[in-house]
Amino acid sequence: MDAMQALYSRRSIRKYTSESISEQAIKELLEAAMSAPSAGNQQPWHFVVIHDRKLLDQIPSLHPHSLMCREAQTAILVCGDPTLEKHVGYWVQDCAAATENLLIAVHAKGLGGVWVGVYPREERVIGFRKLLHIPEHVIPFALIPLGHPAEEKPPQPDRYNEARIHKNSG
Ligand SMILES: Cc1cc2nc3c(=O)[nH]c(=O)nc-3n(C[C@H](O)[C@H](O)[C@H](O)COP(=O)(O)O)c2cc1C
Repeated sequence: MDAMQALYSRRSIRKYTSESISEQAIKELLEAAMSAPSAGNQQPWHFVVIHDRKLLDQIPSLHPHSLMCREAQTAILVCGDPTLEKHVGYWVQDCAAATENLLIAVHAKGLGGVWVGVYPREERVIGFRKLLHIPEHVIPFALIPLGHPAEEKPPQPDRYNEARIHKNSG
């Protein structure tokens, strides 16, 4: 799939079939995530791959907008690690770039996924830390539940907005 086509046809997919996702596909998704740009190429991230059905089923009890985890075959939790930073404070932007890369790769491979926001909601950060035994210095950032799509979405509405474009001044 061409990069521009992937950007414009990606949608949040929240319904999945029961078909599992191969380890090879997961590896390719993680390679795409880790190819994201980061400040000074610091790559301050970790990825927790969640396959365990019991864990996936518990996620909606700690995150109110994550019911799709009960259908998802896998979910990937993108985490930030400020102890890996060379440029303090940029880990959030770095993790957002990795998350978007991951989402686009999911779509380009014919899978479906959705960005579920975790950071900066303290209760969600703490909830994921507890559930997945994540060390204190690592910050759960975003969850991507994924699977083979069981819903089709129309193409994205056009979000181009001239009013948000400013030339030479804000
Ligand atoms: C930072 C962020 C947090 C989000 N959190 C959630 C969430 O908790 N649950 C959910 O179902 N979707 C979540 N979304 C997905 C958005 O609802 C979705 O991207 C938006 O409605 C646009 O739809 P589209 O992705 O199909 O283009 C989140 C997206 C972003 C970027």
